[in-house]
Amino acid sequence: ALPRDLTGLRVVISAGGTREPLDPVRYLGNRSSGKQGYALARVAAQRGAAVTLVAGHTDALPPPAGVTLQRVSTALELRAAVRAAAAEADVVVMAAAVADFRPASRAGHKIKKSDDAPDPVVTLDRNPDILAELVRERRAGQTVVGFAAETGDEHGSVLDHARAKLRRKGADLLVVNAVGDGKAFGTEDNSGWLLAADGTEAPIPLGTKARLAATLWDAVVVLRSR
Ligand code: PMT
Repeated sequence: ALPRDLTGLRVVISAGGTREPLDPVRYLGNRSSGKQGYALARVAAQRGAAVTLVAGHTDALPPPAGVTLQRVSTALELRAAVRAAAAEADVVVMAAAVADFRPASRAGHKIKKSDDAPDPVVTLDRNPDILAELVRERRAGQTVVGFAAETGDEHGSVLDHARAKLRRKGADLLVVNAVGDGKAFGTEDNSGWLLAADGTEAPIPLGTKARLAATLWDAVVVLRSR
């Protein structure tokens, strides 16, 4: 049996991907399936937490038992739902893959191709950084957890980018997933590192998304008992 060590905690978890509409039929989206966020919600509920799950677009996943599910589509909708729920929460976990940009304008009709007019150019506006806002507006005693989907590049490794992101966003904990090459997005298993604001870093071996969820909740319990 799982420990009931999250009893009394109100947690908010975001999951899945956002979609940013270009016109009534097209959008900019991403490959998040929602599986990691749903696993976090399921395990938290099993361990006794009162869970609000704010879900963007996901694969057809069964909603976890015993959680309050709120569905959203765009980054701005996800932001409104998460911030409202966070106002009453002890722990907020941002596992959703939120679009950093949205089309600056949304056509009211389906964008058509035309031989007489130039091809359209999409201009993007920046979406708010929800995790950074949550940190800025955090209630006393609230724990804020971020996820980071990173690829290594010429500017540094996955871990270098993640350390910088943890500092920039100011979260208490950051789960880092190496992505690309078919990893993390849409898969059953996940792996990475768990970074804490105090500088502690622990590798998370490859295992089910439920296993990673259990590791994260263990870390939240330790952090909140300090
Ligand atoms: O859904 P699955 O298929 O199971 O895949 C899981 C996952 C790979 C999507 C998940 O484990 C994960 O890594 N989620 C975060 C993906 C992401 O968008 O990372 P990011 O590095 O772009 O963002 C960093 C953090 O800031 C995240 O907590 C994100 O929710 C948050 N963010 C990002 C952009 C934005 N405008 N506002 C945010 O709050």
